Amino acid sequence: MRIDTKRPAGKLVSLSFITGAVSKFVETNGRSALHIGCGKKETLTRRRAVLFLRKIIFTAKQYRLKAATLAWTDVRSMVDAAISDADLGEMLAASFLMADYEYNEYKKKPEDGFSTLDAISIANAPSDAVKGIRKGEAVGKAVNACRSLSNTPGGDMTPSILAAAAKAATRGTGAVVRILNRRDMRRLGMGAVLGVAQGSKEEPQFIILEYRGRDKGSKPLVLIGKGVTFDSGGLNVKPGDHMYEMHMDMSGGAAVIHAVALAARLKLKANVIGLVPAVENMPSGTSIRPGDMLKSLSGRTIEVLNTDAEGRIILADAITYAKRYNPAAVVDAATLTGAALVALGVQCSAVMSTDDRLRDTLVALGEVSGDYLWPFPLWEEYDSMTKGQFGDVPNISTYGNSRYGGVIAGGMFLREFAKDLACPFAHLDIASRMTAAPDEFLAKGAVGVPVRLFLKLIESYAK
Ligand code: BES
Ligand code: MN
Ligand code: ZN
Repeated sequence: MRIDTKRPAGKLVSLSFITGAVSKFVETNGRSALHIGCGKKETLTRRRAVLFLRKIIFTAKQYRLKAATLAWTDVRSMVDAAISDADLGEMLAASFLMADYEYNEYKKKPEDGFSTLDAISIANAPSDAVKGIRKGEAVGKAVNACRSLSNTPGGDMTPSILAAAAKAATRGTGAVVRILNRRDMRRLGMGAVLGVAQGSKEEPQFIILEYRGRDKGSKPLVLIGKGVTFDSGGLNVKPGDHMYEMHMDMSGGAAVIHAVALAARLKLKANVIGLVPAVENMPSGTSIRPGDMLKSLSGRTIEVLNTDAEGRIILADAITYAKRYNPAAVVDAATLTGAALVALGVQCSAVMSTDDRLRDTLVALGEVSGDYLWPFPLWEEYDSMTKGQFGDVPNISTYGNSRYGGVIAGGMFLREFAKDLACPFAHLDIASRMTAAPDEFLAKGAVGVPVRLFLKLIESYAK
């Protein structure tokens, strides 16, 4: 979908808003108009404005419109005045693109085409709004590109293909991508990543993205993303229908790739590093076994008690690798636990941090970005979760019921490795936001969390 802010081309349907739930399509004197039912008239908060903007596109698609025009003033009058024109423009464009997106790669094109829009024209937008719209378009494109990586089936999104996608995403942006292969990782001693990967015929890839928008002396923000391209569970194979959708277990990695590419494309004045350990978790004669010990890059051994808790294992090596950048902060995003879904439903992600300020900043940026977060504790009271029996750190708790506090257990494991960092660390468990929630006006499948949040975080370092 294209967003025009100059003169609209061709015949357009004009969009406007009415109270009540129903939408109406009317034609008078050869002019067509779609009146969108927006509930009762009220000034929209930021959260509601996002849904309202997406509903516009959702409704236009329902009526199979291909092109439409919308008056900026109509939108402006509905939304809280505290939201600036630039900000609203950015929200509008990103929300429009996200609502228009469908994953149709594996579908034959229907005779009347897919239901996505070709163009929408925003009439009479002031220059600040236009600037916001141009930026929001870049944001929406990055989010949708992230969704497509996640939506791609596991057979067509292997670690090597994800690495190639990272190169493609950053081409021409000023960000640099380097890939460590199995041999490189052996030389470095990344026994954790190598261990999880050893059951698959797909070679693991450690994807490194570097964008330097600022002088060398400025400490970088390091973003880490879980890149499990398919999670079968390994020898602790997933039961029943739990394996379905596990091609999206690289969603954190996809978000890191497109957040770094976006920061570079927007030429943000910040240094950002992206690290994505990419592996496939498979059961085979060469798989790691429950009870196996992996020597991690940190030197500590990881006691593999459950091969399905693989995400935290590969992230351990990435956190240790981050040390070499002398970071200002390290933040990871990972579809880490089913427990996040149990605790939060599908409406927000979990955030945990060793630093209260970083955690609060992330929660606040979650609100601004639309990638909502809710905090969980990383207290020393939970230290028993990380006490190994025969090794240094077990990948699931050996004390009591390992199902209790699953989200926190994931965070506590990562914290053990983050202790070696000289900077704040935060962990985002995005398993709960891997796929679309009801009533959020997004297509089924991946939602591209937390690309928008990462952008806001990078921007906070660019000031
Ligand atoms: N990738 C899964 C978590 C997941 C589940 C993400 C559902 C999205 C939707 C992760 O690797 C996993 O299998 N976690 C285990 C951890 C357990 C063995 C401690 C889980 O949640 O069951
Ligand atoms: Mn797993
Ligand atoms: Zn997983």
